[in-house]
Amino acid sequence: MCGIVGYIGGSQAAPILLESLEKLEYRGYDSAGVAVYNKNAIEFAKSKGRLVNLKEKTNNGEDLKGIVGIGHTRWATHGEPSDLNAHPHLSSSGRFAVVHNGIIENYISLKKKLCDKGFEFISETDTEVIAHLFEYYYKGDIMDTIIKVIDRVEGSYALGVLCSDYPDRFFAVRKSSPMIVGLGDGENFISSDVAAIIKHTRDIYYLEDNEIVVLKADGVKVYNTDKEEVKKEVSKVTWDIDAAEKGGYEHFMMKEIEEQPTALEKTISPRIKDGKIVLDDISLTTEDIKKIRKIYIIACGSAYHVGVVAKYVIEKMCRISVETQVASEFRYCDPIVGANDLVIAISQSGETADTLAALKEAKNHGARILSIVNVVGSAIANASDDVLYTWAGPEIAVATTKAYSTQLSVIYLLATYMADKLGLLTSGEYAKLIRDLQELPAKVAEVLENKDKIQYLASKFFNCHSIFFIGRNLDYAVALEGSLKLKEISYIHSEAYAAGELKHGTISLIEDGTLVIAIATNNDLFDKTVSNAKEVKARGAVVMGIATEKNDMSEVADYEIKIPDTSDILLPSLTVIPLQMFGYYVASNKGCDIDKPRNLAKSVTVE
Ligand code: AGP
Repeated sequence: MCGIVGYIGGSQAAPILLESLEKLEYRGYDSAGVAVYNKNAIEFAKSKGRLVNLKEKTNNGEDLKGIVGIGHTRWATHGEPSDLNAHPHLSSSGRFAVVHNGIIENYISLKKKLCDKGFEFISETDTEVIAHLFEYYYKGDIMDTIIKVIDRVEGSYALGVLCSDYPDRFFAVRKSSPMIVGLGDGENFISSDVAAIIKHTRDIYYLEDNEIVVLKADGVKVYNTDKEEVKKEVSKVTWDIDAAEKGGYEHFMMKEIEEQPTALEKTISPRIKDGKIVLDDISLTTEDIKKIRKIYIIACGSAYHVGVVAKYVIEKMCRISVETQVASEFRYCDPIVGANDLVIAISQSGETADTLAALKEAKNHGARILSIVNVVGSAIANASDDVLYTWAGPEIAVATTKAYSTQLSVIYLLATYMADKLGLLTSGEYAKLIRDLQELPAKVAEVLENKDKIQYLASKFFNCHSIFFIGRNLDYAVALEGSLKLKEISYIHSEAYAAGELKHGTISLIEDGTLVIAIATNNDLFDKTVSNAKEVKARGAVVMGIATEKNDMSEVADYEIKIPDTSDILLPSLTVIPLQMFGYYVASNKGCDIDKPRNLAKSVTVE
């Protein structure tokens, strides 16, 4: 939800921190701040609004001198965006400065306790409690203090801490929130993710919960809460710098839409060897698969929409009952899940609080957890029994596209793998699925060639007040995603409906000129969906049809988009492409902030 960075080395810290924070603005961008240690004291600057305000305030960091510092870019959870609520937060004596990503769930009781002891708070945030707790527990040993603080706070945190008694180092610790350590040459870093430090180093540590990091210019040490040093393995980041930059595109979102063929290739091809699906990254044996009583899929937003596709695909292919639920509901419904159930958690960031909590709830019930995640070393990945990574690379745009598509591909691979292990596919059916999976990246690239047509259609409809997406079966599942893409970046109201359900009420909203996007790629249900499109057309709707080359919607559609044919279960990967581009171009015509839509952040690490 927020981005944190830290630096210690031979250069001035503030300019480096500000430049690194730019790469983290997608995690939250309603306020920002930096703190440095300079001449026996901690100096800081904070400002509401985008990072550019802070850069102006500090003359690009030049006005803050010091070779060790921490920085933060915020997405407000407690306390409105303001200078006072921006991080870093300082202790009353000014001895400690703290930046924090996460939520302190018991901050109210802690705040009361501290106030009763005479501490004065100046912000409305939960984080300020941490700064004062450091003051409260500090008796001269910083390690003891950190251990006491993390023992007292409940919730999630990635913390960067400066202490003016230790001018040659700074400290960090995380629990449930993302943070990595960057290992440079004579300089070291912390960051919420790789993009912020890849320019300086590719050598990083992934951290476990409550590992305490002490960073000096000449080295980094990691300790457990018994103050024993922990030996960490250095991981090498393989992303190139461009992968975290826009690469010439106006927006990350279009870059990532067009990266989908490559992302799919990277996710699919390592898992197909000699015509067979090979899922070495998981330990799900044939026996395990045969014993599965039920599959639960838990996720949020677009990842949930992948779960809706997964329900249709896995039930059709594996004949195993699948229940897909939004994670925020699953975690509080006292789920009937147990040891013979497989729970699939889907998450791009691997840090979504609701999904992580739902996963832990399922785990407490004894279920086996398999997660599909795009970020290595993320909290959801670390909490799972098995992880199938999507290799989409960093996804910066808040509106997910390539991560959604690669999640779909992992579902196809898993469903086909399980169906094969259950003996439910003939060799011919299996071979065709393998062939179609291998051809999927090229077919997505083919659909991307509709770019100009979609741009034209968006120019005709970007002033709509409400747009409907309808479809049946897998087409309905994709309609959900198309509707979310449109509304989250263009702010146009939109609804996705099972085509057969519209007539049970919502069709009353259809009036002259209402745009209805009818998705009819399912061959068996084509006629049914066309008749639903006729129902809305008869009430004045303008119909945009999406169908495969096998079918013709011209009798009902005012505009038609064709997609290539492929195995039925793979069609969602092709259908979603025009919908992603439509949402993008509508938002572009409206002049919206496409990569950073209002009210949203890339990773929602709070309830
Ligand atoms: C998708 O475009 C949205 N940004 C949002 O719905 C997102 O899919 C959801 O918050 C889940 O995020 P995750 O995949 O990182 O868990």
